[in-house]
Amino acid sequence: MKIVGGKALQGSVEVSGAKNAALPVLVSAILANGPCTFERVPDLMDIRTLAKLLANMGMKVDFDRAANRAVLDPTSIHSQEAPYELVKTMRASVFVLGPLVAKYGQAKVSLPGGCAIGARPINYHLTGLEKLGAEIQLEEGYVLARAKRLVGNRVAFEYPSVGATENILMAAVLAKGESILENCAKEPEIVDLARALRAMGAHIEGEGTETIRVQGRDTLGSCAHQVIGDRIEAGTFLSAGFATGGAVRVNGIDSEFLEPVLVKFEEAGALIERGKEFIALQSRGRPKATDVTTLPHPGFPTDMQAQFMAAMTIADGASVITETVFENRFMHVPELTRLGSDITVRGKSAIVKGKLKLKGAPVMATDLRASASLIIAGLCAEGETTVSRIYHLDRGYERMETKLRALGADVERVSES
Ligand code: UD1
Repeated sequence: MKIVGGKALQGSVEVSGAKNAALPVLVSAILANGPCTFERVPDLMDIRTLAKLLANMGMKVDFDRAANRAVLDPTSIHSQEAPYELVKTMRASVFVLGPLVAKYGQAKVSLPGGCAIGARPINYHLTGLEKLGAEIQLEEGYVLARAKRLVGNRVAFEYPSVGATENILMAAVLAKGESILENCAKEPEIVDLARALRAMGAHIEGEGTETIRVQGRDTLGSCAHQVIGDRIEAGTFLSAGFATGGAVRVNGIDSEFLEPVLVKFEEAGALIERGKEFIALQSRGRPKATDVTTLPHPGFPTDMQAQFMAAMTIADGASVITETVFENRFMHVPELTRLGSDITVRGKSAIVKGKLKLKGAPVMATDLRASASLIIAGLCAEGETTVSRIYHLDRGYERMETKLRALGADVERVSES
C-alpha cells in the first residue's frame, strides 16, 4: 500500500460486518439442521478461508461476496476434520471443534496458526470440552475429540477467553442438560453469536455477562441472522481521522461497542458524538498524550492498541501503552520507529513520546492490526510511506483503501515486485 501522508481525513464511511462475529457465527451453522442465511458477512481473507474449511467438511457454502450474504447448509457434512493446510493460516478454525463434537460426537482439528502475536494456546477450549464430557487426545499436531453425547456441566474459565467462551457455548447448546459457563468473555461478538444460536432454537441466558446459562437441546433448527458491525474497523477509521487532525463519521456501528475506546479519544482531546448506528469524531488539534491498558471487554480492546499507538506517536506529551492480553503484541513498534516515532518498550508497556511530525518510509506489516497502525502512521507522515505484506490487512479489513480514499486519503494498492 502506497500512502502519501499529510492530509486530514474528512467524511463518512460504512462499517462492514464484524470479522470476529462473522467467524463464529458462520461456524455455528454446523449445529443447525437446515440452511442458515447470514447477512452482512464481510468479504475478507479469513472468511474465505473459513468458507473453504467448512466446504471441505461437506457443508454447502454459498457466499455471495458482492451481497455480503452467506447461505450455509450443514445437512451434507460428511467429514469432521479440519486439516492443517486450512487451519494453519487462521486460528479461528479451532471454533469448529466444539460444534463438531457436540453434533457428531467426534472432531479432528489441526492445532491452529494465525497472527504471530503470542503463544495463543487453546488449553481453555480443551479443558472446557473435557468438562462437558469430551475425550481429548493430541496426536501429530491434531486435536482429536470424542464424546457419545456431551453432558452439561459447570465450566469456569481461568481467563475470559473470547474464543474459548464461543467454542464452549457452541458445544453446550447441544449438550444434555444445563451448562453454566463462568468467567466468560463479554465481547459484543459473543452476544452476537448467542443471538444466532438462539435464532436456531438454542436456550441461552446471560450472554454479555460473566455467567452464561445454557439449557442443551437435542437438535437445533436453522436461522437467518445479520452480523453486527465491526467495532475494530470503526475504531481504526476513527483513529485515522483523529491522528490526521480530521473529522470522521463511521456508520453502521453501535457506539456502545466501542465505548472503552471512545472515552480514550475524548481524554486525548477529540469530540465524539455517539449513536445507535454511528459514531462521529472531530479532532481538535494535536492529540494529547493518553495512557491505555488493554483488557478483556469492557476494557480497552487489544485489537485497537496498535492503531491508538499510531495516534499517540504524534501526540503532545508521552503516553504509556500497556498490553496485558497478548504477550507479543508490539511488533509494530520497530516499524513505527522507521517513520520517526519515539517508542521504548519495557516489558508489557510501550512509552510513546509524541513527535510533532513523522516522515514517510518503507515499512513492513507483521500482523493484522499492526498493518492498520502503519497505515494510520503513514497517513500522518510527511511524504510517501509504503506498507508491504498487506496480506495481513486483507485478513481483516474489507476494501480498506477504497474506504480511506472516500475520506480523502491518498492511498493506492500497488503490486509488490
Ligand atoms: C479473539 C479475537 C482477537 C482478539 C482476542 C482478544 C477472534 C477470531 N479473535 O482472539 O482478534 O485480539 O480475542 O480480544 O475473535 N489463551 C490461553 N488459552 C486458551 C485461550 C486463550 O492461554 O485456551 C490466552 C491467549 O494466549 C491470550 C488471551 O488468553 O493471551 C486472550 O485470548 P482469547 O480471548 O482467547 O483470544 P482469541 O479468541 O484467540
